[in-house]
Amino acid sequence: MEKTLSIIKPDGVSKNLIGEVIKTFESQGIRIAAAKMKLLSRKEAEGFYYVHKERPFFGELVEFMMSGPVVLMVLEGEDVIRRNREIMGATDPAEAAPGTIRAKWADSKQNNIVHGSDSPESAAFEIGYFFSGIEIF
Ligand code: PPS
Repeated sequence: MEKTLSIIKPDGVSKNLIGEVIKTFESQGIRIAAAKMKLLSRKEAEGFYYVHKERPFFGELVEFMMSGPVVLMVLEGEDVIRRNREIMGATDPAEAAPGTIRAKWADSKQNNIVHGSDSPESAAFEIGYFFSGIEIF
């Protein structure tokens, strides 16, 4: 069964959407295999987004991800990397399909409620970045 990393970003937590997001995943048959709440350090946020370090918004994105607690989750299911990205909707909420998490609740390309791994390679890196094997059920 495939696994992916999901993050409920600080805006999702502060808008009290933890339950709604988890309900969205579970109602689509996706299993929560691991979960924890965490306030990211600068080092953790910068390391997580290192692929974007040359992009103009990198500093702002790192500040945002440190601005409040996040919920880190490992999701499990068939084709879950692609399905999670479909359920989240496009990065830019203005382009997100109706009914998706970002269409319903996101405010901007930065404040867009959730993160989801975009490939098997990034899922492997991102899950290992935040979880050890004994924390995944
Ligand atoms: S883009 O615009 O399609 O290239 O964006 P993408 O590569 O999907 O975005 C990568 C992550 O960067 C965040 N992002 C931004 N943050 C701040 N400001 C701006 N302008 C911006 N554009 C994109 C976006 O939320 C993505 O975060 P993750 O956590 O990977 O979803």
